[in-house]
Amino acid sequence: MGSYDEIFRKSIEEPVAFWKEAAEAIDWYKKCDRILDDSRPPFYRWFPNGEINTCFNALDRHVRDGLGDQVALIYDSPVTNTVKHITYRQMLDRVARFSGALRGLGVGKGDTVIIYMPMIPEAVVAMLACARLGAIHSVVFGGFAANELALRIDHAKPKVIISASGSMEGKKVIAYKPLLDRAIELAEHRAERCVLFQRPFVEASMIDGRDLDWQEIESQAAPVDCVPVKATDPLYILYTSGTTGMPKGVIRDNGGHAVALHWSMKYIYNVKAGDIFWAASDVGWVVGHSYIVYAPLLMGCTTVLYEGKPVGTPDPGAFWRVIEQHKVKVLFTAPTAFRAIKKEDPEGVFFKKYHLDHFECLFLAGERLDPDTYHWACALLDRPVIDHWWQTETGWPIASNCLGIEHFPIKPGSPTKAVPGYDVKILDNDGNELPANHDGDVVIKLPLPPGTLASLWQADDKFISSYTSRFSGYYLTSDGGYKDEDGYLFIMGRIDDVINIAGHRLSTGAMEEVIATHPAVAECAVVGADDTLKGQLPVGLVVLKAGAVQDAEQIEKDLIQMVRNQIGPIACYKTTAVVPRLPKTRSGKILRGTMRAIANGKDYRMPSTIDDPTTLEEITETFNHLRFPTKK
Ligand code: COA
Ligand code: AMP
Repeated sequence: MGSYDEIFRKSIEEPVAFWKEAAEAIDWYKKCDRILDDSRPPFYRWFPNGEINTCFNALDRHVRDGLGDQVALIYDSPVTNTVKHITYRQMLDRVARFSGALRGLGVGKGDTVIIYMPMIPEAVVAMLACARLGAIHSVVFGGFAANELALRIDHAKPKVIISASGSMEGKKVIAYKPLLDRAIELAEHRAERCVLFQRPFVEASMIDGRDLDWQEIESQAAPVDCVPVKATDPLYILYTSGTTGMPKGVIRDNGGHAVALHWSMKYIYNVKAGDIFWAASDVGWVVGHSYIVYAPLLMGCTTVLYEGKPVGTPDPGAFWRVIEQHKVKVLFTAPTAFRAIKKEDPEGVFFKKYHLDHFECLFLAGERLDPDTYHWACALLDRPVIDHWWQTETGWPIASNCLGIEHFPIKPGSPTKAVPGYDVKILDNDGNELPANHDGDVVIKLPLPPGTLASLWQADDKFISSYTSRFSGYYLTSDGGYKDEDGYLFIMGRIDDVINIAGHRLSTGAMEEVIATHPAVAECAVVGADDTLKGQLPVGLVVLKAGAVQDAEQIEKDLIQMVRNQIGPIACYKTTAVVPRLPKTRSGKILRGTMRAIANGKDYRMPSTIDDPTTLEEITETFNHLRFPTKK
């Protein structure tokens, strides 16, 4: 194997040869003689004439190759006091039978299926069963409210919806069925069937003729084989927050995805078949798709599916218990989880109770890894702590210290260098490349490597306007940052209206759309303010209608409830400030970027187009008051 520089150079200068070689690690029904279709920029297709099945690569081939008795998945659920080990053979058996059940409901190649499930093995079975049939799954995170689920139902138009009776969030029972029923009521699209997995602590009431019991249909079904699909056929749609209330449906293909994820396990995470890999995330997020489900299984690892939290289930030693008990080699989670542990166990008292002999490395992503958390984690673990940067859109890391290639010295605050395949540049407003240490738009030269988004579901035009029209020939990440003189990237935060709350991606625009419907609100803006635990929290600035009953406390309560009901509790919307007006340009555009800077105490340049500079003083005062409230 070569050095990082050699491998990186080959990936950029000879991408076809590079990815052709990587594709050898995957089983194909039909190998491609053409690696990249670049005939229709900015839409690129990897392995255009290959045929593959992702489920075959994740399960069948490992059983074929003698790994059948190896554990594929460890389900560890402190909230239900359960630990289960499922081998590759058992997983294959369940997936093949559940595929049979889905086929019995009419699900086939190209059909869409929504999966709204908690962190239970059945969520993984459902995803792989769709993949087996060539159906396209769309997993919706359980913390989203009915309204968000309804938006996704209407957009993805599923033939079947798969769900469970509920989950345990810490000590709280969350019943999913009422949320699902409400979402179906709100949506215009009608799914033919709902399949419900009943959990013992909460029962879903079933609607005759529509709802089916998972256990019943799985036990009655006959197993089915994998259906070959084109490498370019969609494997899944994953909705992610954009700048408006309508999320973006990122499309992932089958072939490029399998090739890239397999490559990433070896070269980024430095793991091999048989290693125990734990991504402490949720299957509803991209990290869960890629690194709980697909990548570890494609690689023949054992993946850990953890239904718990870093703290409170039952204590801040939860992660160390799981690592010790299951001999985890690599843990991947979000910095916010470490901040939560640090808050409750700053001296590492719980950490010292466990023996982490097999644990080699921690990877963090999902939000910026602040240097304080980095230093604390390093001192505690005495093992490499690797920050790496990626997005739902890319599906796998854009920048990382690639431990399987070369371990670079770490610069705190930086996810190290671009991963092979990603030609990352920093551009100024006019599209010129900036020199080292100058802040700008972080972009990636097209074509993106395999495994990244093929387009947006039924919205090629939105793909272009969101990602490729700002700078011709480049993918816009919507992150701001810079590269230093050694090529290390520093990703400083989003430059659009997307915020990161506890490693979860949310749209301030979506919250504004909800708040604006309050009868007393004339206009509003939501900005992300830095938070020491969750990274960012939303703050709503509202201007009330003249003559509205101005009970600010009641309005604040209403808005909290409205955002919880319509977006979900994970939006963590708690703070509203009533302001006399919002800062705007002379043409009436709200100055959100400037407000973001003010909210976080950063320097900003007075916009030359501002209508009235005193509005910025008012906003500064508002945020000062929120940060240091005067006692009532
Ligand atoms: N289903 C239903 N509700 C959910 C949920 C789910 N899957 N996940 C979170 N929620 C709810 C929580 O119960 C909470 O509700 P509340 O306001 O009624 O208390 C709310 O959404 C906010 O959740 P969260 O931001 O997770 O706060 P928390 O205080 O429960 O936990 C952390 C804080 C830091 C421990 C937690 O956010 C965490 O583990 N973060 C790591 C995130 C992560 O892994 N991200 C994936 C990217 S790698
Ligand atoms: P998501 O699509 O939910 O994965 O969120 C993607 C966004 O999270 C990115 O655009 C970044 O703003 C942020 N992000 C993820 N990982 C990192 C990281 N390591 N450093 C800085 N920001 C990150």
